[in-house]
Amino acid sequence: MAETIQDWTRSCRCAEVTRDMIGSRLTLMGWCHKQRDLGGLIFITLRDRSGEVQLVLDDDSPEEMRTKAISVRSEYVLAAQGVLRERSAINPKMKTGDLELWVEELRILSTAKTPPFYIEDDAGTNEALRLKYRYLDLRRAPMQKNLQLRHRVTMLVREFFDREGFLEIETPMLIKSTPEGARDYLVPSRIFNGQFFALPQSPQLFKQLLMLGGYDRYLQIARCFRDEDLRADRQPEFTQIDLEMAFVSREDVLAVNEKFLATLFAELKGIDLELPLPRLTWQEAMARFGSDKPDLRFGMEICDLSDLVRDSEFAVFTTALAAGGAVRAITVPGGSVLSRKQIDSLGEYVKTYRAKGLAWLVPAPEARGSFLKFLAPEQISAIADRCKAGPEDLILIIADSKTEIVLTALGELRLEAARRLDLIPQGQWQLLWVTEFPLFEYDETEQRLVAKHHPFTAPLAADMDLLETGPEQVRAEAYDIVLNGVELGGGSIRIHDQELQRRMFELLGLSPEVVDERFGFLLEAFQYGVPPHGGIAYGLDRLLMLLAEESSIREVIAFPKVQNSSCPLTGAPGIVDELQLAELGLTLSQTEQPIAADDMAGELD
Ligand code: AMO
Ligand code: AMP
Repeated sequence: MAETIQDWTRSCRCAEVTRDMIGSRLTLMGWCHKQRDLGGLIFITLRDRSGEVQLVLDDDSPEEMRTKAISVRSEYVLAAQGVLRERSAINPKMKTGDLELWVEELRILSTAKTPPFYIEDDAGTNEALRLKYRYLDLRRAPMQKNLQLRHRVTMLVREFFDREGFLEIETPMLIKSTPEGARDYLVPSRIFNGQFFALPQSPQLFKQLLMLGGYDRYLQIARCFRDEDLRADRQPEFTQIDLEMAFVSREDVLAVNEKFLATLFAELKGIDLELPLPRLTWQEAMARFGSDKPDLRFGMEICDLSDLVRDSEFAVFTTALAAGGAVRAITVPGGSVLSRKQIDSLGEYVKTYRAKGLAWLVPAPEARGSFLKFLAPEQISAIADRCKAGPEDLILIIADSKTEIVLTALGELRLEAARRLDLIPQGQWQLLWVTEFPLFEYDETEQRLVAKHHPFTAPLAADMDLLETGPEQVRAEAYDIVLNGVELGGGSIRIHDQELQRRMFELLGLSPEVVDERFGFLLEAFQYGVPPHGGIAYGLDRLLMLLAEESSIREVIAFPKVQNSSCPLTGAPGIVDELQLAELGLTLSQTEQPIAADDMAGELD
C-alpha cells in the first residue's frame, strides 16, 4: 500500500540542500535513483528535478525503517525525514556530494515497476522507446535541463519585450483555412456540418489585424500547426516567438530584435554579441554559400570558374556554359586526404541535389583530378589560384546549365564535406540576417508563382515597377535570422495598401472570388486605416535546440511527435466513435488502423 505524505512538508528539493543546513532536520522527497545495501549501511540516491542527494541508514536506524529501505527499488517515490550531515566520503561528481541525510523515518509513497530503460544522463536508449515512455525520459537530467532552459527563455522573452513596450495578446486557434504555404490541420464544425476550422500555421493575419486595431507592439508565444513532412528541426505543432510592430521600417524591426538577441546571449551564454549583426542579401548568400541560411562558422566559399574554363576541351563545362549555366567550385581544406571512393560518395551526395556530376582536382604537388586530360596545365593552375587551393586541398566543381542547381548543390556539398572532415568549429554562435529575398518563386508542380515568404510581404520599393514586367526579379522587404546555418526566424514589412495586396493575390494566380472568400475580411479591414507594419517570428524550438546544443528539436519539447506525426505515448491520432462522426456530419471512406508505438522505431528522422 502506498503511504501518504500526511503532515509532512517538503523542506526543499533534493539538490537544494546546502552546507548551512547541516544539523537541521529536513524532509526530502523524490525518486529512488539507486539503492545500495551494504549490510550495515544502506544508501539511497534520491532524485528530483534539481538533482540528487544521498540518504543513509545504518545499524542504529530503527529496524522497521531498515526493512523498508531494503525493499526500495529504482524509481520508487520516497519521502524521508532526518538530519543533514557532512559526508565523509565526498563525491566530487555530485552537486550535493559533501552532504547526506541520515534517515530517521522513511515513507514509500509509490512503488514502481522496473523501467524499460535506465534513467541515466546519456540517452543511449532507442529514441522511440524514450518517446513511448516520455514521462520516464523526462526524469533524465538532460531533459530536465532542456525544459528548464525553455522556461528561462520564455521568461526572458516576456520580460524583454515587456520592457520594450510589447503587449502579449492571444490569437485564436480555430481559424479559417487559408491554404498558402504548408498543409492545414482541419477541425470539422459540429454546428456547420461540412465546414471546417483550420488550426493556425501562424498568427500572421491576426497579428496584422492587431496592428489595425492599434496595438502597435504585439508579442505572443504562439503554438503553430503545419501538416508537413517532419525532419529533425520540424514538428507538426511547434512554438513561435511571434512579434509585430506598427509605424516601423525594416531597420526598426531589426534593431529591436538585435537587442533581444544580444540580451538572450548575454544572459544565457555570457556572450557579448557584436552589433549590428552581419547581413547578407539573399543574392549574396546564394552566390557565396549556395544557401539562404549560410553557416558562417567556416569558410569554403563558392568561387566562379566559368571564365577560366570557357575555352577548355571539357564538354561538361563548355556545354553548361553555352546553355547559359555556370561552373563553380568549393575548396575543401585538407581534402586531398580523401580517397577516390570518398570523393565518389560526395559525387553521389550532390546528385540528390540535382547536380549531374562532380568534378574534382587536387592541384599540387602533382595535379590529380577527374578532368585533367581536357585542360591545359595553365588552366589547372589558374583554377588552383582562383580557389586559393594549397597542396593539401581538394577542389570540387559542379557544372550545370542551371546556375541555381550549381549553387544549391555546392551549398549542400560545402556542408557535407565540412561535416565529414570535421571542419565546423563547435561552441561558436554565428548569427546573421539574410535580406532581400525574392518576393516570389516559381512552383513547377503548380505552374504558377507562389509567395516565397507569404502573400502579405511587401515588395522592395525600388522594385515596385518590376511587379508588372518581371515579377520573379522583385525583391521583398523580407528578412531571416540565421544561426549556425539554421533558419531561426523570418519576417517582413507587410503590404499595407489594399490595392497592392489585391494585385499581389492576382499575381499569385488567385481569382477575385477566391480572394474574396479567403481574404475578403483582410481587404475590407484595409479600408479602415492601416498603419505601416512589420514583424518577425522565431522558431522557439529551433532556438532552444541550438542553445541546448541538441541535434533535434524533439530534445527541447516535452511531448514531441515522431516522423509520421503521431504521438508514441498516447497513440494519437486515434479512431473516434460513430456518434462523434455523425454529429460532425462525417462518414469515412476508409480507415487506417492505429499504429502501435512499438512499430515506430527508426522512423524518427
Ligand atoms: P515562417 O513560416 O518563416 O514565418 O516561420 C517562422 C519560424 O518558425 C519556425 N518553424 C518551425 N519550427 C518547427 N517546426 C516547424 N514545422 C516549423 N515551421 C517553421 C522556423 C521559422 O523561421 N508568420 C510568419 C512570420 C512573420 O512574417 O512574421 C511565419 O510564420 O524557425
Ligand atoms: P565523364 O566524362 O562523364 O566520365 O565525366 C568526367 C568527370 O566529370 C567525372 O568526374 C564526372 O563526375 C564529372 N562530371 C560529370 N558531370 C558533371 C557536372 N555536371 N559537373 C561537374 N562535373 C561533372
